[in-house]
Amino acid sequence: VRLRAKDGLLIGKKIIITAGGTHEALDPVRYLTNRSSGKMGYALAHAAVEMGAEVVLITTIAREDIFGVKKIFVSSAQEMFDEAIHAFATADIFISAAAVSDFKPAEKAMHKIKKQADDGLTLNLVQNADILQTIGQSKKSHQIVIGFAAETQDLLAHGQDKLIKKHADMLIINDVSRSDTGFSSDDNAVTILIPGRLPETLSKASKIDIARAIMTQVITLK
Ligand code: CTP
Ligand code: CA
Repeated sequence: VRLRAKDGLLIGKKIIITAGGTHEALDPVRYLTNRSSGKMGYALAHAAVEMGAEVVLITTIAREDIFGVKKIFVSSAQEMFDEAIHAFATADIFISAAAVSDFKPAEKAMHKIKKQADDGLTLNLVQNADILQTIGQSKKSHQIVIGFAAETQDLLAHGQDKLIKKHADMLIINDVSRSDTGFSSDDNAVTILIPGRLPETLSKASKIDIARAIMTQVITLK
């Protein structure tokens, strides 16, 4: 086993990471979701255990098992919200890598929705609660909260807005308009915002290398 210089720096720290896109049920057989693969969240879990952290991964997606990572499977944004709030109460760091659906059907039909003659179907959607913002607003002084921002334009401006609105200690901007990174790709390219510091861009690299670079920044916070 080859030890890296940063191994061990998160020993004794409990980190909660969310990953994957949430499923918002429309009826017993259908749901709304998005293109998130969960890969970035899993890569962060790998990087955090390498540094000695205890990791809880709250995820909608079954990928590889990671030694030292406890997975909690959820489906909807509401389930992810409940598990994240509960787990973070005894944790040190929260990383919100999930693509949480902004909207859910206003109601879930009890039975499979049937076609009506030649009519279309209008869906009535309502907003989901914001997990990151809720946790950011209520964090204790020793706790660190980290979010992502998926953007297609004005990346830095939108990222700065989210950093403030979510009370985050770090905000990682993903350019989701690029086809060579993000979502199901094995690579990513991000810009890291930390209050009071200059933005730092990590150019295209594997998600595990991006995750290691992010965790290296995390240990410099507070
Ligand atoms: N997030 C969350 N709960 C939600 C929506 C978003 O925890 N209901 C988190 C995401 O996990 C991410 C951050 O908030 O870490 C930003 O998500 P993003 O979709 O980029 O921003 P939104 O605040 O949802 O705003 P919008 O999609 O309108 O740009
Ligand atoms: Ca959103």
